[in-house]
Amino acid sequence: MNMTRKVGIIGMGNVGAAAAHYIVASGFADELVLIDKNEAKVKADALDFEDAMANLLHHTEITVNDYAALADADVVISALGNIKLQDNAGDDRFAELPFTRVEVRAVAEKIKASGFHGKLVVITNPVDVITSIYQEVTGLPKNHVIGTGTLLDSARMKRAVASRLGLDPRSVTGYNLGEHGNSQFTAWSTVRVLGKPVTEIAAARGLDLAELDHEAKVGGHTVFRGKKYTNYGVSTSAVKLAVAIMSNSLTEMPVSNFREEYGIYLSYPAVVGNDGVVEQLQLDLTPEELEKLQASADFIKQKYAESKE
Ligand code: LAC
Repeated sequence: MNMTRKVGIIGMGNVGAAAAHYIVASGFADELVLIDKNEAKVKADALDFEDAMANLLHHTEITVNDYAALADADVVISALGNIKLQDNAGDDRFAELPFTRVEVRAVAEKIKASGFHGKLVVITNPVDVITSIYQEVTGLPKNHVIGTGTLLDSARMKRAVASRLGLDPRSVTGYNLGEHGNSQFTAWSTVRVLGKPVTEIAAARGLDLAELDHEAKVGGHTVFRGKKYTNYGVSTSAVKLAVAIMSNSLTEMPVSNFREEYGIYLSYPAVVGNDGVVEQLQLDLTPEELEKLQASADFIKQKYAESKE
């Protein structure tokens, strides 16, 4: 039995580096494998982390650019992307697809060849389509390949609701569903705060839910406009997923997982533990929410089909 906790990160740009820093600083992995095409950069990142070791509480053994080292990893996080395409994204995560659909197929082949049999956590955009590609190429069980999806957008919704009420975002529960992209929506029927359905609180305190839905949905674009990338929010989502897997915490969260009834990866809450997605929730959505979810699923499905052309 593998007693060490081992994580691999593929792609050490702004997102991969933020995830690596969170993992090294929190000491939650014993071994970390960092992979990037830019050898000088990934080696420098590893050395920089090693410079932190003498002043950290935990030790993390770091390996650089060795796919074979992923064979016994518990979790591999895909954080690769193309910042140049992101620059021209115009609020559309599909701008990265011409690059990522090719790159991810090559990376997935290498992951497969390494003998990796852990859980794959996907950040790479457009995440729902890319998660499908990873699962298809690696042949890993569907419940072992999970995208960060709307775990991030749900966090943005919680931030938006909580800030209006002067609360900590952790006081809000509920989900953004569907695509981690422009067809997502906040399922307000699932959102609760201050012990009540948010719809009641909104009516009593004058919150405009349509405005909050929009704020959550465009949250990524808002950050993007300021710094030309986003990294802390999404890397935190990925590490939360990795921790749930490695500690078998059985945490319920909205992540991109394969739903049979929609025939595609999309975000819908699931219970995550050591075996990946161990249970898929069945929400009581309103007819309007079900319609939006179906539309989002249809959109992802169409984009996935196009990605193969
Ligand atoms: C975001 C990127 C990760 O929404 O899509 O921040």
